[in-house]
Amino acid sequence: MASPLKTELCDMLGIELPIMLAGMGGAAGPALAAAVSEAGGLGVVGATGYTPDELAEMIAKVRSLTDKPFGVDLLLPSSIADSGNREDLEIQITAEHRRYVDNLKQEFEIPEPSRLPERPPLTQDYFRKQVEVILDENVPVFASGLGNPGWMVPDAHAQGMKVIGLVGNTRNARRVAAANVDAVVAQGTEAGGHTGRIGTLALVPQVADAIAPTKTIAAGGIVDGRGLVAALALGAEAIWCGTAFLATPEAYQDAEERGETDAWTRKVQHDKLVAAVDEDTRIGRMYSGKTMRHMYNAWTEAWERPEAPPTLPMPLQGLLVGEALRGAREAHIEGLIGGPAGNGAGLIKAIRPATEVVGSMVEVAEELCERFGLQPVEA
Ligand SMILES: Cc1cc2nc3c(=O)[nH]c(=O)nc-3n(C[C@H](O)[C@H](O)[C@H](O)COP(=O)(O)O)c2cc1C
Repeated sequence: MASPLKTELCDMLGIELPIMLAGMGGAAGPALAAAVSEAGGLGVVGATGYTPDELAEMIAKVRSLTDKPFGVDLLLPSSIADSGNREDLEIQITAEHRRYVDNLKQEFEIPEPSRLPERPPLTQDYFRKQVEVILDENVPVFASGLGNPGWMVPDAHAQGMKVIGLVGNTRNARRVAAANVDAVVAQGTEAGGHTGRIGTLALVPQVADAIAPTKTIAAGGIVDGRGLVAALALGAEAIWCGTAFLATPEAYQDAEERGETDAWTRKVQHDKLVAAVDEDTRIGRMYSGKTMRHMYNAWTEAWERPEAPPTLPMPLQGLLVGEALRGAREAHIEGLIGGPAGNGAGLIKAIRPATEVVGSMVEVAEELCERFGLQPVEA
């Protein structure tokens, strides 16, 4: 008998289980994506910020680790400069903002980082180059974590690719669905990373109703089999999980191999995730300039002080704080280690391989289906 968890979307994407690894820049690299795809779900590489060459390398690495379908996720925000190099953009950062960060560097004794950033800043021009690689490589699934991927859908569909757009409200869900994407991720405010204002429980059914027959995928606060069954009950055909897969040894693995993080930082991030309770994540614009749910820490508290200047828009805020945060990581300043994480962090009790995370989600979800007498939907 078919698993009660299998949905039409699984068939459309060529996967066995309605479980997707959410794109997480720096955290969801080829090793984690391949592990989730091998376990029967859809592994999605978080490729925000990576240069076109790095992106091609990452895609090749996933293909060397699995023959199964996988995806790549990029941010495509529309409200961002069309082009410009680092210097053009940095000029727009005010002296007041620089002073505030300099004061924080002194307060927290943050040294200069050992190496300067090599990647260009996020601009529309840069996103277009990244998307060209995705199309050239014929990646099975492309996901856009911000913005509307409609402009690349015709090219993607012409070569048999699937496209997913992520939204936080029904207005954007309608807009993205009208652009002919194959599925829309309805992401509730509980989610780690950039996030909106509406809770998952209210958002998912509203999006499912608004965009049918386009498929809905649920995200935000889903970390176990209970969340999976709830998401299917709300009208979603799969779940898109970030925080659950942060709690795996494969998370950040590629970033460490690339020298973007180190074993100490990964361990502190994992320890904080396991120790977290439901109130340990908050939303703020201090990392990227857009509302992002993160693990609350001394750095993010500093941006909530009355004397803190208003945060800058994307990508200026990232340029403003990037160096200080890199310095803090390199100097192993534990109180400043954090990063994106969702409300579901309070449910994480251990670091387990991605296969186990998927396996236990399925086990619990299938038990629940049996208990409630749920059957697979016949096509
Ligand atoms: C560490 C981390 C990094 C993330 N980075 C990205 C990213 O680069 N691009 C993106 O579209 N979403 C990003 N997200 C959001 C996820 O794709 C996803 O929507 C979210 O994690 C789902 O909610 P959950 O964390 O409650 O599972 C990130 C989330 C986390 C936790």
